[in-house]
Amino acid sequence: MAKLQDKVALITGAGSGMGRSQAVLFAQEGVKVIAADINMDNVEDTVKMIKADGGEALAIHLDVSQQRSVNDAVKKGIDMFGRIHILSNTAGILDGYSATLDTSEELWDRIMNINLKGVYYMTNAVLPHMLKHEEGVIVNIGSIASFVAGGGGAAYTSAKHAIAGYTKQLSFDYGQKGIRANAIAPGAVETGMTKQIFAEGSAAVMEAVNSVPAGRYGQPEEIASVALFLASDDASFMHGAIVPVDGGWTVK
Ligand SMILES: NC(=O)c1ccc[n+]([C@@H]2O[C@H](COP(=O)([O-])OP(=O)(O)OC[C@H]3O[C@@H](n4cnc5c(N)ncnc54)[C@H](O)[C@@H]3O)[C@@H](O)[C@H]2O)c1
Repeated sequence: MAKLQDKVALITGAGSGMGRSQAVLFAQEGVKVIAADINMDNVEDTVKMIKADGGEALAIHLDVSQQRSVNDAVKKGIDMFGRIHILSNTAGILDGYSATLDTSEELWDRIMNINLKGVYYMTNAVLPHMLKHEEGVIVNIGSIASFVAGGGGAAYTSAKHAIAGYTKQLSFDYGQKGIRANAIAPGAVETGMTKQIFAEGSAAVMEAVNSVPAGRYGQPEEIASVALFLASDDASFMHGAIVPVDGGWTVK
């Protein structure tokens, strides 16, 4: 039997990269996927991939930084499938590795609104439904920037550090009410976010990426498999963990 048969997962950022990989893998494990993204064409492609594979999925337009859009997406998902058992907060953007003096207020707000406030909006929209059923799993996608500097710029690193704290606080507040919240802290992974950086990367960038113990960057499927584990009962005793999946980037 599939690992998560008949569970329902809402995955943000499902139009690309790690979100798409999770959507496809979760569907293969019996999950009905609510695939949400700001890029409707891409998320529709994700749903086509799932359906071609015999899975069930719904494509939803979502801007995680807009509360109304978040509430609409969650309502549509619940109307369609009746439940949301799993929330994967994956949508995110990079800040161009800008140091604070190069970070405009606009860039700061944009990063915070998508990478941090978006996670808060999504969680607050889904959590009451999960609490009603005393069952829910939340997987947040942090970053090596949740632990160390250099995985992004000032705004990105601040937001991703906050994701670690937010995930722990979620566990603290709701763990005994049937909710398991954990985060993944990916290292350099080849996705829509990084493809160009890796393709055109300077020697210094590629040296940083390739000098990790794994000796390479990762693939989104290598993040999705850990998200699946965290979403499943295999991780039943895991609460508030921030799991590095980074090829060893943060060992030193
Ligand atoms: N790629 C990496 O090396 C890396 C490393 C560490 C952490 N991350 C994190 O992984 C997560 C997934 O990123 P990815 O690498 O798969 O990138 P990606 O660009 O391939 O995918 C991100 C998706 O998020 C969507 N998105 C952006 N803004 C949105 C919004 N306002 N509302 C809804 N959807 C929105 C995009 O359309 C895109 O489909 C992000 O949170 C990112 O910060 C990535």
